[in-house]
Amino acid sequence: MSASSKTTRLTVPELRAQKGGQPIVCLTAYTTPMARFLDPHVDMLLVGDSLGMVIYGMDNTLAVTVEMMAAHGRAVMRGAARACVIVDMPFGSYQESPELAFRNAARLMAETGCAGVKLEGGEEMAETVHFLTRRGIPVLGHIGLMPQSVNTAGGFKVQGRGDQGTKIRGDAQAIAEAGAFAIVIEGTVERVSREITNAVSVPTIGIGASPACDGQVLVTEDIVGLFGEFTPRFVKRYAELGEELSEAAKRFAEDVRARRFPGPEHVFSFEGRAKATP
Ligand code: KIV
Repeated sequence: MSASSKTTRLTVPELRAQKGGQPIVCLTAYTTPMARFLDPHVDMLLVGDSLGMVIYGMDNTLAVTVEMMAAHGRAVMRGAARACVIVDMPFGSYQESPELAFRNAARLMAETGCAGVKLEGGEEMAETVHFLTRRGIPVLGHIGLMPQSVNTAGGFKVQGRGDQGTKIRGDAQAIAEAGAFAIVIEGTVERVSREITNAVSVPTIGIGASPACDGQVLVTEDIVGLFGEFTPRFVKRYAELGEELSEAAKRFAEDVRARRFPGPEHVFSFEGRAKATP
């Protein structure tokens, strides 16, 4: 069933069943209005910890907190009626132990009403993924380029060249066998993404990981021109909302300075209607 013809919320098992079928469509959302705009068109809305960079202006995602993810998760759930909503676990909220991961994942699910959580990591996180999924928490894996490991990786670098391919394939298999319902593959060369997609039984969702994946995810602000100067090579621009926003602000400023705004239609007269809205 396609996203737009569905009236009830897409579930995790339904997403998992899309393996090898119609590609899974996923975009990030951090706020209620954005979720409302995207919800009719996507299968999954990801409340990504990329929000640290995209809306809080941080250099990376490491300072994002569980509180921030819970607040934005709740906001997205208010605007999403039918997409499956997944919330990212931020850096430091799950790596220490499966028990800590469970407490924070359960909190995110209880406080937001989301359908599952995403966490970064390969073989080293398999035990945690198993622990969570056995206790009722659907987990979306995330392998390849892992932004929370920016310091150990020495930057945001394309993954999978040379010997790295073996490690990433092993990560994918470990996370799938541990019970993840799907796996995000980020910034990874096509050959490795294709091999993983062919090898694992759950859907792969690519971001800069080629069309070989079972679905695609992008950061919404990247595709509509609302984030920074730099557009990564794997992003396709569908709109230039940043330029439109700047133009709207410029015209507003000109109108105010020239006393063209507010006009008579925006003014409450003493005798007029009581309501402030049309
Ligand atoms: O944080 C995020 O938005 C993500 C996606 C880009 C996959 O992890």
